[in-house]
Amino acid sequence: MSHLNSEDLLNVAVEAALAASNVIMESLDKPRVANLKGKTDLVTETDIESENTIKSILQSSYPDHGILAEESGTHFSTSEYLWIVDPLDGTTNFVHGYPSFAISIALFYKDEPIVAVVLEMPHIKLYSAIKGKGAWCEGSTIECSNTLSLQNSLLVTGFGYEHGLLWEKNMRIFKHFTDITQGVRRLGAASIDICHVAAGKVDGYWEFDLKPWDMAAGILIAKESGCKVTSLDGRDHNIYDSSILITNDHIHSQMVEEASAI
Ligand code: IPD
Ligand code: CA
Ligand code: CA
Repeated sequence: MSHLNSEDLLNVAVEAALAASNVIMESLDKPRVANLKGKTDLVTETDIESENTIKSILQSSYPDHGILAEESGTHFSTSEYLWIVDPLDGTTNFVHGYPSFAISIALFYKDEPIVAVVLEMPHIKLYSAIKGKGAWCEGSTIECSNTLSLQNSLLVTGFGYEHGLLWEKNMRIFKHFTDITQGVRRLGAASIDICHVAAGKVDGYWEFDLKPWDMAAGILIAKESGCKVTSLDGRDHNIYDSSILITNDHIHSQMVEEASAI
């Protein structure tokens, strides 16, 4: 058991997310300069400013905690607490002004997420969770959907920047699930996709090749809202796995079965 108060930890995570959202929302009206990290992987000055804002708030409250943040990597520490931060999830959407991007902040204690915040933008929705206490959107409890069959489900997925074998496999899986469900959405911000499953707006989500910061906060929010979280082959998931599957309880085994046949 963590000896720190989880509400206090959540308050600091929320404070950091709100401060960073000001940075991001203010920069929406200004020209955005994007640089390429990979062939299609964009990064802007706003990603970096947002990350600095979050880190300075986390560090001033908990100077001994570790931080793993997308743009600056690992801030090593001997602490059992590790903050995992995506300062701007959905950077490509942000650069193009497509309205689906977020800030994602999770706190892990001994390798387990205990507190999580995803701040969806530009239409602000604050998702949060505390291990063992529940998941919320704007303060109201959220629960995953109750859809019983894949046939009646709406799904969401994403495609990473590496266009390799897993990306090609995902194209085939995307086609198959589009064929056998009511549809598959592809919005471009993994943390939001996951929160949408947690809130019952979609019934299931899968993706390959995510990084820990894309999913760390979403995983706790999903688990606390009643979702099942595994790898796509149904095995226990950890944040370094190459695939993730998040669904309501009813369609989980059907999705594992269908995906494994592709
Ligand atoms: C990306 C988004 C996207 C997912 C990619 C991620 P970024 O994060 O979450 O939905 O498909 O795999 O890298 O680069 O915008 O923070
Ligand atoms: Ca991301
Ligand atoms: Ca990012």
